[in-house]
Amino acid sequence: MSNEPIKFAYWVPNVSGGLVISQIPQRTSWDANYNRKLAQIAERAGFDYALTQIRFTAGYGADNQHESVTFSQDLLGATEKLKVIAALLPGPWNPTLAAKQIATISHLSNARIAVNIVSGWFRGEFKAIGEPWLDHEERYLRSEEFIRCLQGIWQQDSFTFAGDFYRFRDYSLKPKPLDPQPEIFQGGSSRAARDMAARVSDWYFTNGNTPEGIRQQVEDIQLKAAENQHKVKIGVNGFVIARQTEQEAQSVLRDILDNANPDAVKGFQSEVKNAGSASPEGEGNWAKSTLEDLVQYNDGFKTNLIGTPQQIAERIVELKQAGVDLMLLGFLHFQEEVEFFGREVIPRVRELERQQQPVLSHG
Ligand SMILES: Cc1cc2nc3c(=O)[nH]c(=O)nc-3n(C[C@H](O)[C@H](O)[C@H](O)COP(=O)(O)O)c2cc1C
Repeated sequence: MSNEPIKFAYWVPNVSGGLVISQIPQRTSWDANYNRKLAQIAERAGFDYALTQIRFTAGYGADNQHESVTFSQDLLGATEKLKVIAALLPGPWNPTLAAKQIATISHLSNARIAVNIVSGWFRGEFKAIGEPWLDHEERYLRSEEFIRCLQGIWQQDSFTFAGDFYRFRDYSLKPKPLDPQPEIFQGGSSRAARDMAARVSDWYFTNGNTPEGIRQQVEDIQLKAAENQHKVKIGVNGFVIARQTEQEAQSVLRDILDNANPDAVKGFQSEVKNAGSASPEGEGNWAKSTLEDLVQYNDGFKTNLIGTPQQIAERIVELKQAGVDLMLLGFLHFQEEVEFFGREVIPRVRELERQQQPVLSHG
């Protein structure tokens, strides 16, 4: 377990429909003004990061989607401390343009920009925009080359690379990003995703899960990372329903599930089969998800951050003990609930962390 305080990130609702495939009324908006205010609330509430999403077409809800890099830059302009992680999908992005865009944003934001490399799960989306649909292993091979190129371009002069997907010859990017360098996150939990994290990424982001499910992934990744002399940190998704009583929180969950749109959830279920479950090992982000789990796009109910502030704080610390460095959080009514989380949950997490610090011996 890390001695560092656990970090908090929230999903930027830059995609319409919120974070659940449900008709339940949500006081969350995907527009710019709502999101600027949310980012300001989040940084005051003690959040370290905001994660923007990339999606090029609608499918199973999410009818409108703002682009991630542009949107991230706008949120950086509205805040002072918050770091913003922009999702990049290799294919539509190539490393040349991505490295240049992010280096400029690093200068505009005093080094508060980071990236999340996503490998793709939505075949219909690739088809709609004329992108070839690579198989699962190839998608991760391409993502790994993408990450190696970003790192090479940002850190070296005369960068040269001859890969299966990308080529560079004596390329010197100027200006390079400011220090600290943009952090590289990645999303996914299949065998290929874990191996990539153990080789190149700074952060491994995974879907919601139990502390035991997370512990198994962490052990696998950290063992391999040590063999590769690589350091990687772990972020886990969770959907928060924090209320004054557990019954209240559970009844909100029931409402979300009762109002779920079954056709949309089934459509989503059939698309995510193209992700890690289509890999040779049949593992991955959604390999074991039930229909109820899928009502939250990234299995966020499984993390069970549903209850009173004290119960949620205790579960977060349990995840920290399983090797988690960052909680990536979604909410039903983002602005109000991010503020409530900062006031009621984060201080309880900090108190539990303090109690668990090893006692220093004197003399
Ligand atoms: C935290 C997180 C954020 C993600 N964000 C996006 C995104 O913005 N756009 C996207 O197309 N896919 C996104 N993904 C999906 C992943 O890139 C990947 O396709 C998916 O997790 C399949 O992983 P698997 O190989 O484990 O099955 C995200 C995944 C995670 C865990």
